[in-house]
Amino acid sequence: MSRIEFKNICKRYAPHLPMTIHNANLTIEHGEFCVFVGPSGCGKSTLLRMVAGLEDISSGELLIGGQRVNDLPPAQRGVAMVFQSYALYPHMTVGENMAFGLRVLGANKAEIDSKVKEAAEILQLTPLLDRLPKALSGGQRQRVAIGRAIVKQPKVFLFDEPLSNLDAALRVQTRLEIAKLHKDMGSASMIYVTHDQVEAMTLANKIVLLHTGALIQERGSVAQVGSPMNLYHRPASLFVAEFIGSPKMNLLQGTLQSAEAAHATVNVGGQTLTVAVDARHLKAGEAVQVGIRPEHIPLDQEGASVGAGTAVAASLQHIERLGDSSLLYVQIPGQPIATVKVEGSAALAAGSALTLRLQPDQMHLFDSQGIACHRTVELPE
Ligand SMILES: Nc1ncnc2c1ncn2[C@@H]1O[C@H](COP(=O)(O)OP(=O)(O)O)[C@@H](O)[C@H]1O
Ligand SMILES: [Mg+2]
Repeated sequence: MSRIEFKNICKRYAPHLPMTIHNANLTIEHGEFCVFVGPSGCGKSTLLRMVAGLEDISSGELLIGGQRVNDLPPAQRGVAMVFQSYALYPHMTVGENMAFGLRVLGANKAEIDSKVKEAAEILQLTPLLDRLPKALSGGQRQRVAIGRAIVKQPKVFLFDEPLSNLDAALRVQTRLEIAKLHKDMGSASMIYVTHDQVEAMTLANKIVLLHTGALIQERGSVAQVGSPMNLYHRPASLFVAEFIGSPKMNLLQGTLQSAEAAHATVNVGGQTLTVAVDARHLKAGEAVQVGIRPEHIPLDQEGASVGAGTAVAASLQHIERLGDSSLLYVQIPGQPIATVKVEGSAALAAGSALTLRLQPDQMHLFDSQGIACHRTVELPE
């Protein structure tokens, strides 16, 4: 079993420094693909390195397969780590690089050869086994680094931003290979660190989003844990809502008018919006923010609104055409610029007047502390 449990884990690098990880409580199930994501500096690598045994744990307990591993040396934890920098030995061939860890452990040659052969097959490195790293592309080097982890047959694979040094096309290809590797490895758990929400959304069964709040007590704490669709559809806070999804969720400033079990009404610039959330715990008159994603404001390519919802007037400031879709930057009076994503190439000119239809079940509501109200419409998980 390779279940990993964090119990009240805290990390402080030095007594005079603020806490880097605050009270992490998490369980990563056997065979799960868990992604730690968050802005740079939020503590993702610190959390991962504590699992690897490369960083001391200041307080709390870390369990792997039910065993407390706080004081267990890295080599005895059954984990293998792949870093952003491939860190291959330049004078060794691909095969020798992959075999090195096993040789150090004293495995016999036949066993090493068979494991290296198997890993090379999985990673399509067989024709490259005799090459030196300098004769490989970045993507191939990273595959060798992954191969080095596979031959150890770990219970847990740890990846720290393994794709960050690759160009965009290779990142997508290697991302697919890592997803396939997780399928092929069946029983192994994976923890994958990235600052890229697209990698998190596409690879994870479970996302752990870490905070870098302005508040010091928020930094290095877990903002939300859940499936990718859960974080997308049901962000627990403004921080999560703005981090997950691209382009970012739009936010409209308003005040709460009334709240019932199934919906709330919000005054946004003198207009009443109905939002399908339960906000009965908030007071009428409280400052709130209404969130709506760019892809959830239905407009056609001519800018005509599609479907029902409250009509809100806006003027088009700027268009970005991406080929498959267009991003409209629109001004709703008294609000920050909002983004609307429409399919195809929008046939519109800056300055056009638009009517946006805001649908109750596509909106989110956040209180003055940035905490989300519970949505009252079922959404896919
Ligand atoms: N060895 C260290 N000594 C002191 N502070 C550190 C050390 N390593 C990381 N930190 C600090 O801990 C915080 C989290 O770092 P890190 O885990 O590397 O973040 P991430 O991987 O999310 O970018 C940062 O503020 C960083 O400066
Ligand atoms: Mg890092």
